Amino acid sequence: MSRFWSPIVHTLTPYVPGEQPKLQNLVKLNTNENPYGPSPKVLAALHDANNDALRLYPDPNADQLKDAIATYHGLKREHVFVGNGSDEVLAHAFCALLKHDKPLLFPDISYSFYPVYCGLYQIDYRTVPLNDAFEIDVADYEGDAGAIIFPNPNAPTGRLLPLADIERLLQRQPDAVVVVDEAYIDFGGDSACTLIERYPNLLVVQTLSKSRSLAGLRVGFALGHPQLIEALERVKNSFNSYPLDRLAIAGASASFADEAYFRASCDKVIASREKLSAAMRELGFDVLPSAANFVFARHPQHDAGQLAAGLREHGVIVRHFKAPRIDQHLRISIGTDAECDALIAALHTLLR
Ligand SMILES: Cc1ncc(COP(=O)(O)O)c(C=O)c1O
Repeated sequence: MSRFWSPIVHTLTPYVPGEQPKLQNLVKLNTNENPYGPSPKVLAALHDANNDALRLYPDPNADQLKDAIATYHGLKREHVFVGNGSDEVLAHAFCALLKHDKPLLFPDISYSFYPVYCGLYQIDYRTVPLNDAFEIDVADYEGDAGAIIFPNPNAPTGRLLPLADIERLLQRQPDAVVVVDEAYIDFGGDSACTLIERYPNLLVVQTLSKSRSLAGLRVGFALGHPQLIEALERVKNSFNSYPLDRLAIAGASASFADEAYFRASCDKVIASREKLSAAMRELGFDVLPSAANFVFARHPQHDAGQLAAGLREHGVIVRHFKAPRIDQHLRISIGTDAECDALIAALHTLLR
């Protein structure tokens, strides 16, 4: 607290990211990073971009990257917005597109950054409960809405909403922007970006942090009708002209040119997820079906907070949210098979 703060600062409740531990040798299954490194082609592009040109500002429009993303998704450059991680893209979307007289709707169990942005931009919002199976039911979003946002697959549940349901929502809410946050879509779902040409109210947000193993490079993007993209550009250019540096533009662009590596690493994560889910069910956990690079699970006989603390003592960190409805669940990122085995071994000991 300080008398020098702008009044709004007193009201903010900032987002708390998962721990990035300083200790070595921990099995880190708490922030949904990819256990495999980025493509060698990305590393080569970063190496090549590490030169004297770093004295110059980067392209403020990051056209090279926008073109790579547009080509990859069968769209045009004017359908693409890029930013410093999808968190920044989302922040601009909240400011540019989600503040209206009617409330913004999002699920009660969802990405916990959404209410934080609402606080920052003073957006009126209403949370819509997931059903008892922790699924989004689009019929619940058909009432009065200024705009709608949800992750698909949802976080932290991992549950996937079929594309047909998203299309139904877009049809029923033609006057509301619908943002689909697809941070985890590459691990098991179909992107809504195929609907963009038909629905001018759809904005799809994706990241290179998860399926493309580039959380450390901070690159995210949005796909949508050029008028939605223009709104994002206006906000971005009123905030920071150069959110992506030269290295980020080079590395991220190269990622879209190595489809084989991308597919192979997603497939490995998916296979490990299915193996881990089965092993946890054997231990008595209820594991939600996941289309993401994490699982969301609870044990009927063991307190989730105590399990998370016990796992940490065994050198394994997972995420436990002390939030209504989910405080008995753990969110566990998919690691390598060896890391998943270490988790299962620690759970064996703890559940004895
Ligand atoms: C649902 C969801 N959206 C967006 C993000 C932000 O990802 P990034 O800023 O690394 O692109 C995350 C990160 O965990 C997430 O879980």
